[in-house]
Amino acid sequence: MSQTRSPMKVRKAVFPVGGLGTRFLPATKSMPKEMLPVVDKPLIHYAFEEAKAAGIEQFIFVTGRNKHAIEDHFDHSYELQSTLSQKNKKKELELTSNWLPKAGNVSFTRQQEPMGLGHAVWCARHLIGNEPFAVILADDMVLSKQPCLKQMIEAYDDVGGNILGVMDVPLEKTSSYGIVDIDKSAKNKDKRIVKAKGLVEKPAPADAPSTLSIIGRYILQPDVFSILDKQKPGAGGEIQLTDAICSMIGKQGVHGYRFEGVRYDCGSLVGFVAANVAYSLERTETRERVVDELKEVFKRAGLK
Ligand code: G1P
Repeated sequence: MSQTRSPMKVRKAVFPVGGLGTRFLPATKSMPKEMLPVVDKPLIHYAFEEAKAAGIEQFIFVTGRNKHAIEDHFDHSYELQSTLSQKNKKKELELTSNWLPKAGNVSFTRQQEPMGLGHAVWCARHLIGNEPFAVILADDMVLSKQPCLKQMIEAYDDVGGNILGVMDVPLEKTSSYGIVDIDKSAKNKDKRIVKAKGLVEKPAPADAPSTLSIIGRYILQPDVFSILDKQKPGAGGEIQLTDAICSMIGKQGVHGYRFEGVRYDCGSLVGFVAANVAYSLERTETRERVVDELKEVFKRAGLK
């Protein structure tokens, strides 16, 4: 695909939500990890809101077994709504449904076996068709002035091709991420945009081409599907999205976008707790009380 062509609008987003969430057991024994709340909204709800704020119109969830709660979340809850309505609880009623996507704008497909992120995205190929699309991993939350995906769509409008949300991580952590091999000869007027000449999934620090890591935000061209069709298992024996994107380098643009904002790794216990604190401090109605409570908690724990 040529990059001189003005890029086609990104209308669809894929949310891979098939993971088992074993790091959060027993909380995730009968509840999808994507339904874990940060303050009062499930992780998947933040991902959905971010996509919506970026202009996404079609929301595609790649689920797995025991993920019904996600489907229910994006549907009406008649009993609850009718009870709230009888009690004239308008605000609560709005929270249950005024954000729901239009009928027909949400789809669910299933990844029958956990074969990796690349495989999960590939499962959405028929729902995407031949157009660019976004991928959002709900585990990765980005607290920012402008929603992360919206920032990336602006970068995409500029350079087209494939855009990956990226940030630097400590060298010892490269083995947890897809890492960008940066093409330093390519200069872009937007300093946040970095051209990739390679990508490596989860390299050991000694083998990492940089410390610039991919976080769970992607804008991809549909060409990735024909690569994923034949993609061999990579790191961890899984079909890796990073490897498929890497194969597109040279045929079409692959850029990293150093987004503005702070990323919380809600796939880890500590990141999840930190996100809860950070997001509760963002809310004016809870901020002061949370600060006071935390001061007390720290004092009791013998910390200043
Ligand atoms: C996935 C991707 C990896 C990326 C990471 C971001 O890994 O494969 O390239 O850096 O998400 O969170 P996972 O965390 O699912 O193992």
